[in-house]
Amino acid sequence: MGRLLDKVIIFKFSKVCDPRGNLSFIEEGCHVPFSIKRVFYIYDVPGGENRGGHAHRDNTTVLIAVSGSVDLRLTDGEHESVVRMNRANKGVLIPPGVWDSMHDFTTGTVCLALCDHHYEEEDYIRDLDEYHDYIKSLKDK
Ligand code: TYD
Repeated sequence: MGRLLDKVIIFKFSKVCDPRGNLSFIEEGCHVPFSIKRVFYIYDVPGGENRGGHAHRDNTTVLIAVSGSVDLRLTDGEHESVVRMNRANKGVLIPPGVWDSMHDFTTGTVCLALCDHHYEEEDYIRDLDEYHDYIKSLKDK
């Protein structure tokens, strides 16, 4: 198994600049490499709160801070990286098996998530010990 973190992709979506305001667009299969089955967004995050803190078994997410900024921490249990999400046209693809958490939200941040699976609680790994066992089982395969 290669490094799971190497499967993280950072996208820079097109930005149509206009004196009336900028516009970015995302089409499934073109700008994200999957069919979009689900969209959710996180907003009104109180100061000091974090979100995420889990991995998925099958679901892939592309996360975009469409407004404001937030630190996205990613780990595969061994390696870690932090991506500052501070551009409305920047997307981060979080593949299955990567543990993500969001920290240091600035006031008014809105995070949009595009997913290739419907919501299924059974797809989540929310416990770190369980996550480490899961990663080990993937490596032993
Ligand atoms: P969760 O994914 O844990 O939030 P975070 O973004 O912090 O990781 O989701 C919080 C709750 O919202 C979860 O208990 C169930 C609900 N939820 C849905 O019903 N559908 C969804 O698509 C998502 C993402 C969450």
